[in-house]
Amino acid sequence: MEQLRVKERIEELVHILEEANYNYYVLDNPTITDQEFDQLLRELEKLEENYPQFASINSPTKRVGGMVIDKFKKINHTIPMLSLPDVFSEEEIVAFDERIRKSGIEPDYVCELKIDGLSVSLHYEKGEFLTGATRGNGVIGEDITHNVRTIKSVPMKLKNESTIEVRGEIYMSKETLAKLNHQRSELNMPLLQNCRNAAAGSIRQLDSKIAAKRSLDTWIYHLPNPEDYNIKTHYEALKFMKQLGLKTNPESKLVHGVNGILEFIKEYTEKRPTLSYDIDGVVIKVNDIASQKKLGFTSKYPKWAIAYKFPAEEVLTKLTDIIFTVGRTGRITPNAVLEPALVMGSTVKRATLHNEDYIIEKGLKIGDIVSIRKAGDVIPEVVEAKLERRTGNEKEFQMITKCPICDSELEKKVGQIDHYCLNSNCPARHIEGLVHFVSRHAMNIDGFGEKIMEDFFNLGFIKSILDIYHLENHKEDLIELEGYGKKSVDNLLIAIENSKQNSLERLLFGLGISGIGDKTALLLSRTYKTLENLSTKTKEELQELKDIGPILAKNVEEYFSNVDNITLINNLKELGINTKYLGEEIKNNEIISGKRFVVTGTISFMGREEIEQIISNYGGQASGSVSKKTDVVIVGEKAGSKETKARELGIEIWGEEKLYSLLKNLGEI
Ligand code: IVH
Repeated sequence: MEQLRVKERIEELVHILEEANYNYYVLDNPTITDQEFDQLLRELEKLEENYPQFASINSPTKRVGGMVIDKFKKINHTIPMLSLPDVFSEEEIVAFDERIRKSGIEPDYVCELKIDGLSVSLHYEKGEFLTGATRGNGVIGEDITHNVRTIKSVPMKLKNESTIEVRGEIYMSKETLAKLNHQRSELNMPLLQNCRNAAAGSIRQLDSKIAAKRSLDTWIYHLPNPEDYNIKTHYEALKFMKQLGLKTNPESKLVHGVNGILEFIKEYTEKRPTLSYDIDGVVIKVNDIASQKKLGFTSKYPKWAIAYKFPAEEVLTKLTDIIFTVGRTGRITPNAVLEPALVMGSTVKRATLHNEDYIIEKGLKIGDIVSIRKAGDVIPEVVEAKLERRTGNEKEFQMITKCPICDSELEKKVGQIDHYCLNSNCPARHIEGLVHFVSRHAMNIDGFGEKIMEDFFNLGFIKSILDIYHLENHKEDLIELEGYGKKSVDNLLIAIENSKQNSLERLLFGLGISGIGDKTALLLSRTYKTLENLSTKTKEELQELKDIGPILAKNVEEYFSNVDNITLINNLKELGINTKYLGEEIKNNEIISGKRFVVTGTISFMGREEIEQIISNYGGQASGSVSKKTDVVIVGEKAGSKETKARELGIEIWGEEKLYSLLKNLGEI
């Protein structure tokens, strides 16, 4: 293709793809299918690869990330990025309105949702996206341009050639946070507390590939210099920014007087749980720009706007009992049993009371009317006892002295706040073994976290592995429990039923034989094919296997000489749990089979061990170090020296996308 034609086609593709992004992410009105989009994007990628001289930094191909910086540059805000004074009551809103009227202004207000994210300043030059910066200390922020480019609702080209600064909020939707936390829980990573922290953490990534995966979004709500565009009111500024292709919030409303403000607040206090993003209040701004100018600023805040913050929703209910649960480490937790109460759209029946000191500090008595609220809108907590509602029939709280499960004396070490059951044979310790049995690399029963197992254990539903397969008998009780519900219980029971078909290595690993990790379990399963066959092997025979040393061999032999274990296995078989190896015999894939792989760095959608397990299921070999014998190195986030070495040795490298599409084709995800 002659150069000019190429240049034109690139420009055309950039235009079509940006327009598609705009329709999809800003207007929420897709105009082309995902397949069409991908096809055009690939065409553009190819052209840009072959003709890098025509590739623009703001090309749609750059939205997937790829730019890594080593530190954040500072950006000066020529107009400081101020925050807003918080108010919490109707009186304060009335006072705000009166102050403005006293200065001779007859105000109209724009009410907007106060988005719970982090503020951002965007600069465009002649319509082209130039920089994105955080607020920082208001005067100096951090340059997050590389990450902002990955936010699909931020246009890389405005609808005209304006040179302009706009400000708004970067946020993460509730759904994205839930997905991200689901992934993190699978990888045993700490969960993100709320949408704001998650958005802030994502935007402060040095590697824009990570930010790109976090599906961040924006609402633009502020034009710092409206006079430059001859704009007279804030409401006009919102319309103007919308016309430029920026994503402005459709809920913003022009209202008259305090009543209009209060109605808006009432409306959105109710709608808040149904919004797809988190808000923590309502922002009230004087509409007229000349009036804003007249009112001016304090050193910290504009005098023409305030932020009304929603109160955390508190509900009164009765504390009917305090019960104690035992964790897998023996730690005792007191829990409030509450008369069911609706808080922020969900029923709360239980709340943790953490430890004895916590209850004493709050002076709680059984039978008290207490206020409860959802901290961070997620975890229910008991705020306080309503002393004025006491009848005299309340019961003093008494900390238990004996383990509720095994009755041994509890201990509270000096300087510690928690009580522990120190009996290492306490059945509560079995929780650990049970959690292991259902875990991802063992029987992989989806929907069974540690907390759920603790709950079921403490409620007496599950005391042993066998009870897991009898959980069906407690179905009605489970549905009644706080936070479960019919659908999740049904899914859990289906997952339990499906796990019966697992290949032997999962069961073997799940049994928790000392020293048998998932790799050894696979090796033993592959070699001996059935649990019966394995159970007859002597330690000498076992040691003939390359990776089995004397200790492992002894552990296996001992396990199968214990009658309790044999009874357990027989019972499991009777319940229909498969004890045969099904691995490679049913799986084969020429891309994986016979090759040596190294997985390095963090793969966002799956844990490393699971990827290695799949490789091995398909006849590949996964190893920990890169050598000349390595065929493929799979690199995730923060892949370090192994990637470098692979490049030096010229070994084939797969990124996340390649792995993802292969696993998808194989039906593994
Ligand atoms: S206006 C001078 N509007 O709340 C104008 N701020 O406490 C300043 N925020 O730092 C901001 N939603 O991060 C404005 N609709 C909205 C907002 C909003 C969220 C945040 C923003 C600001 C903080 C002020």
